[in-house]
Amino acid sequence: MKLSLTNHNFSTLLNFSFINLRRPFCSSSLSLSPPNYLKPKVPIFLRPPIYSTKLSDLKKWHDWAKNVASSIGSTFVKSDNGPDSSLLCRELKWFIEDVVENHHSSLFSQMGLDDDIERVKMRVDLEELYCLWKQRIEERKPFQYIVGCEHWRDLVLSVEEGVLIPRPETEVIVDLVCDVVSKNEDLKRGVWADLGTGSGALAIGIGRVLGNGGKVIASDLSSVAVAVAAYNVERYCLQDKIELREGSWLEPLKGMEGKLAGLVSNPPYIPSKEISGLQAEVGKHEPRVALDGGADGMNALLHLCDGADLMLKSGGFFAFETNGEQQCKELVDYMKSNKSASLCNLEILADFAGIQRFVIGFRL
Ligand SMILES: C[S@@+](CC[C@H](N)C(=O)[O-])C[C@H]1O[C@@H](n2cnc3c(N)ncnc32)[C@H](O)[C@@H]1O
Repeated sequence: MKLSLTNHNFSTLLNFSFINLRRPFCSSSLSLSPPNYLKPKVPIFLRPPIYSTKLSDLKKWHDWAKNVASSIGSTFVKSDNGPDSSLLCRELKWFIEDVVENHHSSLFSQMGLDDDIERVKMRVDLEELYCLWKQRIEERKPFQYIVGCEHWRDLVLSVEEGVLIPRPETEVIVDLVCDVVSKNEDLKRGVWADLGTGSGALAIGIGRVLGNGGKVIASDLSSVAVAVAAYNVERYCLQDKIELREGSWLEPLKGMEGKLAGLVSNPPYIPSKEISGLQAEVGKHEPRVALDGGADGMNALLHLCDGADLMLKSGGFFAFETNGEQQCKELVDYMKSNKSASLCNLEILADFAGIQRFVIGFRL
């Protein structure tokens, strides 16, 4: 995960077939999602447009929200590399697209004499709109938590506080798995694990590239994450392919020793002392359990090496995301010193920004 939330890929994805991409593929009841005592929030764009407001009142809110966003200037950039006004104004545009039914780009520009009569249907009432935008600006609540979703690969994943917002660089792991299974039918039909699944992003991405018979076990320590991941899995109709389990790292895999075709993880890897310096959207709002990797950030990563050794079958593949070059090197050194009899073909790979980000390899 990168440490900022300012460069997400919302805008590019918004431009093509957006409406269709955002519809759930599966509309079955979500009542069976484990754990059923936690009910994930429905993202705004999926809520029914049950509120009606005068166009002039919506315009008033929009003018206020735009003013507030513009007044930020580069204050957040200077304080912690947060969003500037132009990004906040773009978010405002996306926000309205999510909130207003049948939104069109000339919604406000066409306003005329009928403004006080014309009404628009919305998925959130006007009072909540004021409240949500205040949370975005005053509390620096991430935009994705405000609208309740994030675009990731060709997916629109539900997210809420308590669950990490999936980052674009993690998408590479799905490409890597895609590459591996395209050359190996046995791995394509095997059982994979996504440890620390969060919103279920990797599990869903991988679930969609596996062949018939291929399965993913997606686990997390956080019950909120498990509930949100289950919701996302169900939206993409992958309940038969992805099994959610709650528990710490290898514990939910008991009985699978030597049987996994693949193991992937984007674990918490930020050194503890760096958490306080993170951009407010991240440090104040995203779950610490998803970020904090211990003193040097390596706690979970080292544990996962043992996991790859123990859980993968011969020829099985693993891919781990790290904080960058130094952690990649340390991880590979650890594997070479301690796992040379079991882990092989180790490689360090870069993310989209050219930062050494991933360690991959195979079980001998
Ligand atoms: C960096 S987030 C990654 C989430 C998701 N895989 C993604 O890429 O968006 C790390 C995840 O690991 C989970 N986690 C932290 N400690 C864990 C543990 N001991 N066992 C299992 N999961 C854990 C967190 O709850 C969080 O969801």
